[in-house]
Amino acid sequence: MKLAAVLINFSVASFAAQALAVQYEQYILAPSSRTLHPISVYNVDGSVVGAESLVGDDLGSATFQGISAVTFDYGKEIGGVVSLTIGEVDDDQYIGITFAESSLWISGIGSDGGSFSQFDSPLWFRPSGPGVYTVPREYERGGFRYLSLIKNSTETLEVTQVTTHFTPMPHYSEDALRNYTGFFHSDDELVNRIWYAGAYTNQLCTISPVYGNSLPWLLIGNSDEISAYWFSNTTISNGTSVLVDGARRDRLVWAGDMAIAVPGIVVSTNDLISVRNSLDSLFALQNGTTGQLPYAGVGFFPDSYSETYHLYTLIGVANYYLYANDIEYLSNIWSQWKTAMDYSISQIDDSGLMNVTLSADWLRFGMGAHNIEANSILYHTLQQGLILSRALNDSGVTELYTEVAETLKSSANALLWNETAGFYNDNETSSLHPQDGNSWAVVANLTDSPEKVARISANLQRRWGPYGAPAPEAGTAVSPFISGFELQTHFAAGNATRALELMRLQWGYMLDGPYMTNSSFIEGYEFSGALHYAPYPNDVRISHAHGWSTGPTSTLTFNVAGIVLEGPGGATWQIKPQLGDLQSVHAGFSTGLGLFENRYEKQDNGTFKMVFETPKSTKGRLSIEHSECAGTMVLRDLGGACDDTVVDVDSNPGGRVEFANVVGGRWEIDFKCSS
Ligand SMILES: *[C@@H]1O[C@H](CO)[C@@H](O)[C@H](O)[C@H]1NC(C)=O
Ligand SMILES: *[C@@H]1O[C@H](CO)[C@@H](O)[C@H](O)[C@H]1NC(C)=O
Ligand SMILES: *[C@@H]1O[C@H](CO)[C@@H](O)[C@H](O)[C@H]1NC(C)=O
Ligand SMILES: *[C@@H]1O[C@H](CO)[C@@H](O)[C@H](O)[C@H]1NC(C)=O
Ligand SMILES: *[C@@H]1O[C@H](CO)[C@@H](O)[C@H](O)[C@H]1NC(C)=O
Ligand SMILES: *[C@@H]1O[C@H](CO)[C@@H](O)[C@H](O)[C@H]1NC(C)=O
Ligand SMILES: *[C@@H]1O[C@H](CO)[C@@H](O)[C@H](O)[C@H]1NC(C)=O
Ligand SMILES: *[C@@H]1O[C@H](CO)[C@@H](O)[C@H](O)[C@H]1NC(C)=O
Ligand SMILES: *[C@@H]1O[C@H](CO)[C@@H](O)[C@H](O)[C@H]1NC(C)=O
Ligand SMILES: *[C@@H]1O[C@H](CO)[C@@H](O)[C@H](O)[C@H]1NC(C)=O
Ligand SMILES: *[C@@H]1O[C@H](CO)[C@@H](O)[C@H](O)[C@H]1NC(C)=O
Ligand SMILES: *[C@@H]1O[C@H](CO)[C@@H](O)[C@H](O)[C@H]1NC(C)=O
Repeated sequence: MKLAAVLINFSVASFAAQALAVQYEQYILAPSSRTLHPISVYNVDGSVVGAESLVGDDLGSATFQGISAVTFDYGKEIGGVVSLTIGEVDDDQYIGITFAESSLWISGIGSDGGSFSQFDSPLWFRPSGPGVYTVPREYERGGFRYLSLIKNSTETLEVTQVTTHFTPMPHYSEDALRNYTGFFHSDDELVNRIWYAGAYTNQLCTISPVYGNSLPWLLIGNSDEISAYWFSNTTISNGTSVLVDGARRDRLVWAGDMAIAVPGIVVSTNDLISVRNSLDSLFALQNGTTGQLPYAGVGFFPDSYSETYHLYTLIGVANYYLYANDIEYLSNIWSQWKTAMDYSISQIDDSGLMNVTLSADWLRFGMGAHNIEANSILYHTLQQGLILSRALNDSGVTELYTEVAETLKSSANALLWNETAGFYNDNETSSLHPQDGNSWAVVANLTDSPEKVARISANLQRRWGPYGAPAPEAGTAVSPFISGFELQTHFAAGNATRALELMRLQWGYMLDGPYMTNSSFIEGYEFSGALHYAPYPNDVRISHAHGWSTGPTSTLTFNVAGIVLEGPGGATWQIKPQLGDLQSVHAGFSTGLGLFENRYEKQDNGTFKMVFETPKSTKGRLSIEHSECAGTMVLRDLGGACDDTVVDVDSNPGGRVEFANVVGGRWEIDFKCSS
């Protein structure tokens, strides 16, 4: 490895980084209008004359003659409030609406459901004459692709339009829904589509806080034999928008989910106010006696707690500070943060590890004792606490957090590392090797050697099936949530090709597989590929738009394009691209400080060029992979202020060339093979 310090002595000419034109707009799935109409007829049952005329924006005329039904397709997952425009109608008859995210659940009996046993009941209109009929707002359907109209009596009825008012991202004007602050493009079309489907999934999970909680019967009970009663009108946070777990279900704030969703939001829409509203809603529920943060936000069972989701809320604050550069927010929440950390530290026993006694986590099974996942997350959170305390000049916790973290790390490696397997055990009395704990141990740097990282990454890959990576700690489940951390593990092991393979395999299936929405990412499924999720007793419950499943969006930007924010808002940064088997990548996003952008193109002969830009007020470092050939690398200031830095590089696969102290601006790395 070569180290070349680049010393900068005067600032470059002004560079307009403010206005980021929406690049690669053709991949964006968000609509340009909130008024949406079906794009095709999926199926007709019985006699519906002119069903096709309701496709598109113009008024049509579809006449239901007797008992009949039609299913429309919106072409992608959407969410919102449905209106029907009724034309001719006889007296005293009904028309019902059912919804489905997956084509698997299209039904004339009910909609895909949120309860543990049943379908959601249809919505019924009893039109008294021509006009527009809109469902009450609490019956907004947060996620669906298919909408069916059901006529259950023998008279005729005319529908002239079916309209859905798109309600996600309520705080954005209609013409801003597609105005992303970030973009991604590579030479792999599937990978590009995965990035944008993740960005859109997170938009669908950003809702009005007064229409939260699609599971009210979890609290009030349900006695309906046929189908579950549903509505969504719990106020779950302050503010005008909030980030929830899923578009249709649960429509609740869950801190674990945010650990994957929030970085994806930062690189695509940078919608941090919704993130902050979610965090605030969790801190508002902090237990004044114990310091515990809730398992989930308002609307879920009161006084339910989880050791890991408690920590995820603290990680949420660290992430929010890193991305938003909001020291005032951090300063205001810091004493609550420390109280919560004191609680977690109090759960550590003589072994140096936390003994988990609450089983609640991401719905994995067997969460307890000296669990490797929970302890890795605690280790990571302690490191975040040290970063935050330094930002606040609070040295009072330095010694405690440092010592607790060091002991925890050595204890975990002594008690839970399984040298024969090349994996951590789930806990001391188990030889199950969990996907969550092994991925998290790497992500948290709980591993104490690069060899462990390499072995975990390779061993995780050996377990993949045709539809993705297993999570044996959750029975037969494939967890797109935990697989987001597995992606980070492969990048940490320096194997971007492996991470990209997992994206294509698993997220490719989630995007293009049968019964998927082909636009948003499912919450979980089975190792066999079936749309069954081990923690749930019924399959209709599975959400098809879950923010926790959007891991590739941030990893493609942070790890493949290699744009890493190190200091708050990107005041300090690292550019560390890992293209794996890709030939080219172009990505960028804005923070409050300005635009971060990187374009990297390889030639077949080993030559490559990289052009990157960071805000002028910032400073960073570069870590550039060697090519397969030896040659000359030139670091060039495209602002023209500095002389070129020239480095001779040998052909050392896996090696990297590092440059420190690079000031913000527009730069080029030009590498040419020597022969
Ligand atoms: C149609 O469904 C509505 C709503 O459930 C119900 O009240 C009505 O009796 C049904 N009509 C017939 C003919 O079954
Ligand atoms: C979004 O972008 C479009 C096209 O560039 C522009 O016309 C519109 O004003 C933007 N909307 C907002 C709210 O910035
Ligand atoms: C929510 O909607 C249900 C069904 O319409 C209604 O009974 C309930 O009063 C509403 N709750 C609130 C808080 O508005
Ligand atoms: C809104 O903010 C107030 C004041 O901080 C707080 O008491 C309340 O719990 C918050 N509401 C929600 C739903 O988080
Ligand atoms: C706080 O936590 C304790 C211990 O789990 C519990 O007994 C209590 O009900 C919780 N709630 C409040 C509001 O203190
Ligand atoms: C230890 O891990 C195994 C495998 O996940 C699990 O079955 C068991 O319940 C765990 N022990 C405790 C005490 O949680
Ligand atoms: C964890 O705590 C529980 C409850 O106090 C106890 O029964 C169990 O033995 C402890 N586990 C370990 C590994 O110390
Ligand atoms: C921490 O100390 C530094 C150096 O004295 C100062 O510049 C900075 O404003 C302080 N930060 C806070 C949050 O007080
Ligand atoms: C290590 O893991 C293997 C299974 O991969 C298991 O058979 C063995 O018992 C484990 N060893 C220890 C010490 O836990
Ligand atoms: C990981 O932890 C070790 C100490 O255990 C430390 O030397 C190293 O710098 C850490 N790596 C990162 C990336 O923080
Ligand atoms: C990276 O992973 C691929 C499989 O995805 C494997 O073939 C290759 O050997 C790995 N590279 C290294 C350096 O381990
Ligand atoms: C490598 O390929 C590029 C593009 O085809 C070409 O411009 C360059 O001259 C080639 N370099 C060498 C050393 O062959």
